[in-house]
Amino acid sequence: MPEEELWRTFFSPIETLQALGLRRDMASVVDFGCGYGTFTIPAATFIEGIVHAFDIEPGMIAETRQKAGRAGVTNIHVYTRDFITDGTGLPNASVDYVMLYNILHLEDPIRLLAESYRILCKGGIVGIMHWNYDPSTPRGPSMSIRPKPEQCAQWAATAGFVISEMSIDLPPYHYGIVAKKGNT
Ligand SMILES: C[S@@+](CC[C@H](N)C(=O)[O-])C[C@H]1O[C@@H](n2cnc3c(N)ncnc32)[C@H](O)[C@@H]1O
Repeated sequence: MPEEELWRTFFSPIETLQALGLRRDMASVVDFGCGYGTFTIPAATFIEGIVHAFDIEPGMIAETRQKAGRAGVTNIHVYTRDFITDGTGLPNASVDYVMLYNILHLEDPIRLLAESYRILCKGGIVGIMHWNYDPSTPRGPSMSIRPKPEQCAQWAATAGFVISEMSIDLPPYHYGIVAKKGNT
């Protein structure tokens, strides 16, 4: 990850969360790979429910926890955990929204999407965001592992999701996809 000061210049978190289907009345949200908490803290301030934030790096978890404390946000549960090998440990059909932001370039994206599908309630939403498939972006994974929107949509469909919206423009450097579990 680049330094946080630079990282945060790439995003407008609340606008992105709303564009990718987060709703205020959601009771339970999961952030896969919370990093600096760039989206965790805004999501927690926006929704009425709980945000479950997972990261494999203890430093990222500490950062997110401290930031929540400074912001006076109490509706975040943080977990230091490898969600690729160990999943989330959350019950089946227990959450309303999953954030897969800047994470699907990791090894085994279908496994991550399958875990998202498992924990989402029927009608639950997964928001996918990633760097534009464009080598001129100032950061982002190498082009050899950077997924195109069509690739993310195909992985999501393989995991069982129905695509609701494709290729949402999230300027300056990202795109988004919204997908649903089931049709309700
Ligand atoms: C590129 S950052 C994205 C952070 C955040 N989603 C955002 O968009 O600002 C990816 C994060 O995922 C975490 N991560 C990578 N592999 C992981 C794994 N197997 N289990 C849990 N966290 C992981 C990294 O430590 C890092 O903080």
